[in-house]
Amino acid sequence: MSVYNKTVNLGWRIWSWVDDKFNRLYPQDYNPMYYLGGISNLFFWFVIGTGIVLFLYYKPSLEDAYHSVEYLTQKVPYGQAVRGLHRYGADAMLVFVVLHWLRVWWTDRYRKFRSLAWISGVVLLVLTLLMGVSGYLLVWDERSLMLIRMTQWMVGGEHTWLGKLLVGGDKITDYTLTRFLFFHIGVPFLMLFFLWMHYIRINRPVVYPPALLTLQLFGIVFVACYLFPTVSMAPANPEQMPQAMLVDWFYQWGYVGAAWLQQFLGHAAYPITCLVLVAISVLLFALPYLTQGSYLNVVKVIPEKCTGCEYCAIDCHANAIRMIPTPPGIKARGGKGIIAEILPTRCAECGICVGACPFGAIELPLFTEDQVVARIQEITARAKQPQQPVAAE
Ligand code: HEM
Ligand code: SF4
Ligand code: SF4
Repeated sequence: MSVYNKTVNLGWRIWSWVDDKFNRLYPQDYNPMYYLGGISNLFFWFVIGTGIVLFLYYKPSLEDAYHSVEYLTQKVPYGQAVRGLHRYGADAMLVFVVLHWLRVWWTDRYRKFRSLAWISGVVLLVLTLLMGVSGYLLVWDERSLMLIRMTQWMVGGEHTWLGKLLVGGDKITDYTLTRFLFFHIGVPFLMLFFLWMHYIRINRPVVYPPALLTLQLFGIVFVACYLFPTVSMAPANPEQMPQAMLVDWFYQWGYVGAAWLQQFLGHAAYPITCLVLVAISVLLFALPYLTQGSYLNVVKVIPEKCTGCEYCAIDCHANAIRMIPTPPGIKARGGKGIIAEILPTRCAECGICVGACPFGAIELPLFTEDQVVARIQEITARAKQPQQPVAAE
């Protein structure tokens, strides 16, 4: 077994263990581990809602940005709370997106017909990180300045075209904050498109957790706001570089890695880290194709038996069957002039369509129809017995 498979198997065992622990704490229908994608989506909308309130008070200029955030925090009723909810909501979103990513990966739910969900997911992961980091820039305190400088070093330095593009010129001006604000708001809009792509191939995606779990999650975020109120650092001074950066650790790792490498590689550590991050992203995009395995048991239509009734296409959860005009030379049954066609890269090899076809016109190459029916009967019989969970097949 390859190192890759061993690692993923280990990940699968970790998730089984985590599921088991959570199933002792929660009734199974409320286990948050079963709703990681839905919870990510919930916090996405939560962050947008609270962000709209913050936007109403924000002034994107070097002179006013810091004070407008302070005004909201100190003077506007519940301003401190909304700021905290936005910040901790964004943190929660990132944590759940990462958990969701690791779960679909390690439980092997990312290949074949799930490839599109995976690829759009990788984009969503990157955009979630960008959305979080760009939020820190808007406060315009020492932390913002430090982040800007380190990001510029990552893309080659302050005077490279990318470094200039980031801040809108040779030096930081009011336009710098305008573009950060545009970026911070533009990224969620872009995410809407990728969320649409993410869900399009999933049949009935569960996009929100149950209400009670939602209340509990919101409760945790509210308590975090109360216990750890969000505060700014000292205002940014572009003439002076701050010494420390207090960004949440899960946003910091790229920068911290680069800062650590700097002792060995000098300033080249920053662009090298940036290139490594790009390479990791490319690898993640390619993962479903690098590990896709065979398509040996994709179902096959027997055209001569197909009546074009469409039952199989309606029942297929992976949109892997489309109806096409009967090709010339094939004498299909029925007079509809259409037959089913399988899209192999989308097929989950589940056999549902074999059971759905009343005319025996679809078969799984590695199983006979009788074997499939016997297996379905076995699973449904087990499901009818109380207290016995049915494992995903
Ligand atoms: C903003 C970030 C994200 C949101 C809001 C989100 C949301 C969701 C939701 C609601 C589902 C359906 C879950 C279900 O019905 O059980 C889902 C499925 C899926 N997501 Fe995400 N997701 C995000 C990021 C990611 C990332 C980073 C990846 C991986 C790179 C990913 C990969 C997948 C895959 C492969 C599925 C299909 C899983 C299956 O069929 O069981 N998602 N996502
Ligand atoms: S086996 Fe049939 S129902 Fe299952 S995914 Fe493939 S085409 Fe769809
Ligand atoms: S259910 Fe069977 S007969 Fe009907 S369209 Fe599908 S393959 Fe053809």
